[in-house]
Amino acid sequence: MSISSEADWRGMREVGRVVRLTLDALEGRAVPGVSTAELDAVAASVFAASGARSAPALVYGFPGTVLISVNDEVVHGIPGARRLQRGDVVKLDVTAEKDGYMADAARTVVLAGGGDRAMRLRACAEAAFARALTAARAGYLVTGIGRAIEHEVRAHGFAVIRDLSGHGIGRAIHEFPSVPNFFDPRQKDVLTEGMVVAIEPIVSSGSSRVVEDRDGWTIRTRDGSVAAHYEHTVVITRDAPILLTAA
Ligand code: CO
Repeated sequence: MSISSEADWRGMREVGRVVRLTLDALEGRAVPGVSTAELDAVAASVFAASGARSAPALVYGFPGTVLISVNDEVVHGIPGARRLQRGDVVKLDVTAEKDGYMADAARTVVLAGGGDRAMRLRACAEAAFARALTAARAGYLVTGIGRAIEHEVRAHGFAVIRDLSGHGIGRAIHEFPSVPNFFDPRQKDVLTEGMVVAIEPIVSSGSSRVVEDRDGWTIRTRDGSVAAHYEHTVVITRDAPILLTAA
């Protein structure tokens, strides 16, 4: 969406706040021994207390509240009986809907005992996001975001997952424009003032290709290597973007 009124600002700031609160609650509970279903219940209770709903459940029929993906699972992992273990690399991806507005953010948590490479992979995703913000300005090409992300990820010695992209968001989860995490000459859209986009570097310690599980949801790296994900929903301006899911 493109924010065009005070009501839009209020609605997007509020749903962004719920997403951030939910991620904070999940990050605090993501420890060895907890099941991903237990984490999902934490998210469900934050949503209920905030008057929010799970956007993936609402829009796509996702069988859970939030998406929790562990180690080689990249995105769209279904919460369940799996118990987190020491050293796990856990991607927490939260998309909420409130009063018709939607926001999306993700973090990677490396549990106690995680190795140096996992820590560097997580740091890479966050650095790529920070770099992307410098390319996210009204009047710039959308694909400049991908160019910035790809450049940063390569400098860290890792790979961008090419099959998964950021996206416009606001009234639906996935809106115009598509925001690839690499330079794509076919993506000729231009960022405009007030445009709301989810910027989300998704990086791999090995293959840049993914496969879908038989469960029809979970996306894994093709070669079983560990992945990391970092995402915020932002509003494009003439200056630095405004992060809706960080406040
Ligand atoms: Co997203």
